[in-house]
Amino acid sequence: MNKKYRYRYAADRVGVTILCVLCGRLASGQAGPAREPSVAPPMAEDVFKNVQVLKGIPVDEFMATMGVFSAALGMSCEDCHAANDSKWENYAADNGERKKTARRMVAMMNTINKSFFGGRQVVTCFACHRGADHPRVTPDLGVIYGAPPDDELDDTVKAAPGAPRPDQILDKYIAALGGAKRLAGITSFVARGTSSGYGPESAKRPIEIYARFPDQRTLIIHTDNGDRTTTYDGQVGWFAAPLRPVAVMALTGGELEGARLDAFLSFPGEIKQALGQWRTGAPAIIDDRQVEVIQGTSAGGSIATLYFDPDSGLLIRLRRYAASPVGRVPTQFDFSDYRDVAGVKMPFHWTMTWLDGRENVELSEVVPNAKVDSQRFIKPAPSVAPAR
Ligand code: HEC
Ligand code: HEC
Repeated sequence: MNKKYRYRYAADRVGVTILCVLCGRLASGQAGPAREPSVAPPMAEDVFKNVQVLKGIPVDEFMATMGVFSAALGMSCEDCHAANDSKWENYAADNGERKKTARRMVAMMNTINKSFFGGRQVVTCFACHRGADHPRVTPDLGVIYGAPPDDELDDTVKAAPGAPRPDQILDKYIAALGGAKRLAGITSFVARGTSSGYGPESAKRPIEIYARFPDQRTLIIHTDNGDRTTTYDGQVGWFAAPLRPVAVMALTGGELEGARLDAFLSFPGEIKQALGQWRTGAPAIIDDRQVEVIQGTSAGGSIATLYFDPDSGLLIRLRRYAASPVGRVPTQFDFSDYRDVAGVKMPFHWTMTWLDGRENVELSEVVPNAKVDSQRFIKPAPSVAPAR
């Protein structure tokens, strides 16, 4: 059975009732003011029971690290955790060698990077493992003489000589969408549609998006197990979902900057301000076509790469990265089916792919300049399982 499927399946077995054992602390802040920027998000070791090496990082980054472990090694959670029945607490147990080996590997990786690469994160779990439990030791002769793989070797884009300037590509994009004036005419919207997930979640579920200019956005997916809500209010962001060790998780670091970028892209007239240090890279190939590539860096240092169709000028892919102690955490959007909304082109179809899943979104309607209450962007309540 597919690894991802096994993980998802296991997550679905986790009963809903036990989930708030760990999330009680987070949920207890619920009744406070809508915005709680002064409350520092809890660290992994405050929330989890047996954290020995991944200390001092927030919960969302810790969970992203588990996603990097799984992806880098081609494993599912249960390969390291005997999450036998239904309790997230079981993830704290040190049973079996793999979890202990993984801790040693974190120390080894840090030592290599510190000793030989000036502390830069260039050797990661994936750098050695490439999706397998054991790194390969010997070069594959078939690969040497076969067709070169077309994946990009580097996450970071270096300015390519002779390429168009980033602002030229962004101006063309803004023009392709309908122009700055029309873009400025939309200051809010409500969108509805469906999204299908990966594996056992492949049925279409209803979704809603609420957005307000310049940078507020909430996405709600109504899954069979309860709502999955991602919110960014212009300053802070949250992720609330069923069947998670932490029911309402504060977004931090690169995940928070990613949510901000998603919000900005809802009103792309301001896209140039969303990131800094823009640079144009060498063209990339997507679906056998050459596309234009630019990359920007956020205030906190996260990078995001944007891919444009050179003919239409439209954005066809966004890949953004968050940091983790063991390597970057990628999230990718592939946009298509641009349609006219109040004179502005908006993508009605996109897939969002990340280490832990995939959503295939199809919008059915977008209501421009709809009234959107500010309550839409406050910290979401813990997800409640729908009555069956
Ligand atoms: C390669 C092995 C490996 C994989 C795969 C893995 N983990 Fe972990 N996990 C660890 C290690 C090691 C720790 C302890 C980290 C530490 O001591 O700092 C841990 C700790 C945890 C904890 C904290 C438990 C507690 O209360 O102390 C949770 C929750 C967790 N993992 C969830 C997951 C999930 C969910 C997945 C799948 C997406 C996953 N892990 C995949 C190795 C792994
Ligand atoms: C410098 C290369 C290198 C890096 C970096 C590295 N590993 Fe490994 N890892 C290995 C090698 C080699 C083995 C196999 C050792 C053996 O066969 O005895 C291994 C084995 C493992 C195993 C045991 C697999 C099994 O089937 O039992 C785990 C778990 C593991 N690594 C986790 C990690 C994690 C998590 C990271 C990132 C923090 C990481 N490794 C980074 C080289 C690396």
